[in-house]
Amino acid sequence: MFKNKIATKLITAFAGFVILCVLFLGVLFINIFASNHIRYRTESLMKAAKQISVMNEVTNNDSKKLLSENRLIEFLDYSADARIWIVDRNMDITVRSSGDLYDHAQMGNCLLPQNDIEFMQGVLSGNDMVSYANTAFYDLPMLSVGVPVYSNGEIIGAVLLHTSIKSLREPIRQTTLYLIMAILFSTVVIIIMGSFFAISFTRPLKIMKEVAGKMTGGDYSVKTNITKNDEIGDLANSMDVLAKRLAEAKSETERLEQLRQDFVANVSHEFRTPLTVIKGNIETLADTEIDDKQAFYSNIQKEVNALEKLVSDLLDLSRIESGRLELNIEKVDVKSVISDVVRSISPLAMQKNITIDTTGITQAIPPIYSDYYRLRQVLIIFLSNSIKYSDSNKKISIKADVTDFLTIRIKDNGFGISKEDLPYVWDRFFKSDKMRADSDSTGLGLAIAKNIVNLLGGEVTIQSELNVGSEIQITLPLGGIKMTSA
Ligand SMILES: Nc1ncnc2c1ncn2[C@@H]1O[C@H](COP(=O)(O)OP(=O)(O)OP(=O)(O)O)[C@@H](O)[C@H]1O
Ligand SMILES: [Mg+2]
Repeated sequence: MFKNKIATKLITAFAGFVILCVLFLGVLFINIFASNHIRYRTESLMKAAKQISVMNEVTNNDSKKLLSENRLIEFLDYSADARIWIVDRNMDITVRSSGDLYDHAQMGNCLLPQNDIEFMQGVLSGNDMVSYANTAFYDLPMLSVGVPVYSNGEIIGAVLLHTSIKSLREPIRQTTLYLIMAILFSTVVIIIMGSFFAISFTRPLKIMKEVAGKMTGGDYSVKTNITKNDEIGDLANSMDVLAKRLAEAKSETERLEQLRQDFVANVSHEFRTPLTVIKGNIETLADTEIDDKQAFYSNIQKEVNALEKLVSDLLDLSRIESGRLELNIEKVDVKSVISDVVRSISPLAMQKNITIDTTGITQAIPPIYSDYYRLRQVLIIFLSNSIKYSDSNKKISIKADVTDFLTIRIKDNGFGISKEDLPYVWDRFFKSDKMRADSDSTGLGLAIAKNIVNLLGGEVTIQSELNVGSEIQITLPLGGIKMTSA
């Protein structure tokens, strides 16, 4: 527990504070109690002394009452716990209560407090006197009160009451004892309670410290599991959220790093193939006497074209992904884009005797706000795929529907894509049908097309079945990019 510094500090401070408070209040209480107790005793003795003095005055005038007076003095001695002396002007005792420890005979008539002469003189000159000093007779600190006794207006003696100060202090001593016991008891209780409180208060802090330590070491799978409805609970919850966010950020960083590495590997690979072919052809041309150099030059040209396409695809992709691709938004007549694309791609289709059927576009298509060049690029990517991945003599159909959206469908009866590969066709450099992919296939076409359609505010999906064919569906908002970006 002593290792738990906050807990130790809390207990020490808490216990120290409470003990100091109890001590302060205790001392204050004892002082007030002691002074009040002594004052009260003095007053009551003084009162009793005065009563006796009055009684004595009466007695002097009426000797029949002496007996009852003596009894009363005994009673007062007993009830007030004070020794009562009645002395004459010569300071000789005339009456004395029997509560004294000392023998009456032993005392004689001359044992008045000689060293209290001032006290006695004060009383015999008519003053009510109080003394807390030792008396010569008892030789103990005594509370003594004295009042004069009058007879016909003259002082004939005095009533003296003595009580032991020690007996007065007894209740004070006992109260002090109880107070010390209370302080000790409360100290023990405070230490036990304080320990529980401090440990339960610092336990979550300890857990959080451990969790933070693990997080510093890079382990973000940690959780505090603290459910408290206070500031510590909030802090623990924030730490859990922080750990979760850091874990997400870490896995995102790892994912991006993996993507970067894959990208570099793919790009290098895509560059290496055409470069190797070009290098081979140039070496042959340089080293050997060849009559028909045309075939070599055309090989080189083909690979250079492939490299050019790769570079331009990579540039497109990089511009799209970094948000630097600028769109030229204008009113676009979709039907004329489709005709333009079909016209451009026809020579390629004709090489495989593939027909492109646009008769399905019967409906009038309202113009949309879009980028003519980019929409054309997207349709060329999809159509060139359909041609590339279809056997000769097949048919490709293009349809367009207008509902709440503009939907363009491109359907072929080509080789199709296997179920396993279908989810990955939109990934960069993914080539499902490597055998049939030609030399300038980079696997970037669909990735670029999907990004552009999204930039134009639309969606694209693909359905495909192996050896049956594929269908691309492009959905664009009728209001065009203006509407979606608004
Ligand atoms: N209509 C289709 N029919 C069958 N397979 C297709 C079709 N369209 C795409 N694919 C498959 O998806 C893969 C990815 O297509 P994508 O257009 O991205 O790359 P690519 O055609 O190989 O190269 P390029 O970047 O030159 O277009 C292709 O390699 C092909 O296997
Ligand atoms: Mg392609």
